[in-house]
Amino acid sequence: MTQYVIRGGKPLNGEVVISGAKNAAVAILPAALLVEGVCRIENIPDISDVRLLLQIVEQMGVSVRRLSPGTVELDSTHARSIKAPDELVRKIRASYYLVGALLGRFGHAYVALPGGCNFGPRPIDQHIKGFEALGAQTDISNGSVIADAPDGLHGCRIYLDIVSVGATMNIMIAATLASGTTIIENCAKEPHVVDLANFLNAMGAHISGAGTDVIKIRGVKKLSGGAYTIIPDQIEAGTYMAAVAAAGGNVVVKNIIPKHMDCITAKLKEMGLSVAEYDDSIRVQKTRPLKAARVKTMPYPGFPTDMQPQITVCMTQAQGTSMVTESIYDTRFRYTAELCRMGASIDVSGKIAVVDGPRELEGCTVKAFDLRAGAAMVIAGLAAEGTTIVEGASYIERGYERIIEKLRAIGADITREELQDDPPAQQENPA
Ligand code: EPU
Repeated sequence: MTQYVIRGGKPLNGEVVISGAKNAAVAILPAALLVEGVCRIENIPDISDVRLLLQIVEQMGVSVRRLSPGTVELDSTHARSIKAPDELVRKIRASYYLVGALLGRFGHAYVALPGGCNFGPRPIDQHIKGFEALGAQTDISNGSVIADAPDGLHGCRIYLDIVSVGATMNIMIAATLASGTTIIENCAKEPHVVDLANFLNAMGAHISGAGTDVIKIRGVKKLSGGAYTIIPDQIEAGTYMAAVAAAGGNVVVKNIIPKHMDCITAKLKEMGLSVAEYDDSIRVQKTRPLKAARVKTMPYPGFPTDMQPQITVCMTQAQGTSMVTESIYDTRFRYTAELCRMGASIDVSGKIAVVDGPRELEGCTVKAFDLRAGAAMVIAGLAAEGTTIVEGASYIERGYERIIEKLRAIGADITREELQDDPPAQQENPA
């Protein structure tokens, strides 16, 4: 078991450099299976989800060269559509992108799917609807998706019933090599959706409209390689900003796209955090007590669900009654019980949490139930008096590159401990 030990109550000061976006990287790596040639990908975060995906594509015949930290070269010329290795694939939710990629390139995919996770059911019906509209036959049995399109995929018009990041990106991947034009309506507009489209275009695809709710993909015969740099991670940056809001201090968050941060910055400013934007960085400074706020999670450009646990920790430190409405997932408040054990006052009823603040948090042993809940526990530990032990910290390492090193560099007292009997974290709660 990996655990973090945090001696809290110290403000954070200095600079933190943000890594490449996890949710872009975990789509771009499978999408590279479409490319018959060498693609060089830069700003790849060194996180466990990415390491797993590299292992998976390597087993499918992709040649992977790690050139330097943050840069890999993939050559999928000799990739094969074999059944992806179950024990690896089930550990990571983003393995669903392998279906779109294998179907698009080979007309056949057989991929095991991750089980449920602890913030509610996460079906993939919209992905399947898209593949079928493109002409594939699909079958879900024994926990795997089998998709076949022996005559190839054909462009079509698809209207998504709900705004889904995964379905938008998976259908985009599958449609890249389809014959004719595909139009996806009611798309997700997250920065990583745009990043995937930009990656595919850099490899030779014809995709327009990413970042709006209609994406048009003019199928091409082949993708043949190129170079691409992944965007910075919006949620990693937001997590460090929230850490300053909760624990205090003055930190420059570097290597970001400030526009991507607007939905988070606006809320933290409303709560009283000082935020100054520069070209590719943001300075956050806590100069006064935080004020209570209301947050409702929404698809981009709304407030991201992946920042919901972190902002809730900030609310425990804010004066007054805050309210959080989770509108993306059925249940993403399990972590609040851990915060209450640290002294927070949070009432959860269905998709709404009411947070009374400010409350002094006191260190104790808490669990990271998933990636973002784990990040929230770290922030709470930084804001708390005394020692906090965050168990199950391997969840956090699925999405935060060198988090211990980065936090220590801005003054946090945090150490990592490896104990025996690590629970199979990634199998339980893939992101
Ligand atoms: N949904 C369906 N049917 C579908 C697809 C989605 O009902 O076919 C529902 C989901 O159950 C959910 C909502 O639609 O209620 C939105 O889900 P979406 O498809 O947008 O999420 P996802 O693609 O499964 C990605 C990120 C998540 C992030 C969400 C929302 C990856 C690998 N995961 O998941 O990231 O919370 O988008 O922004 O990109 C994380 O990074 O911690 C994480 C969980």
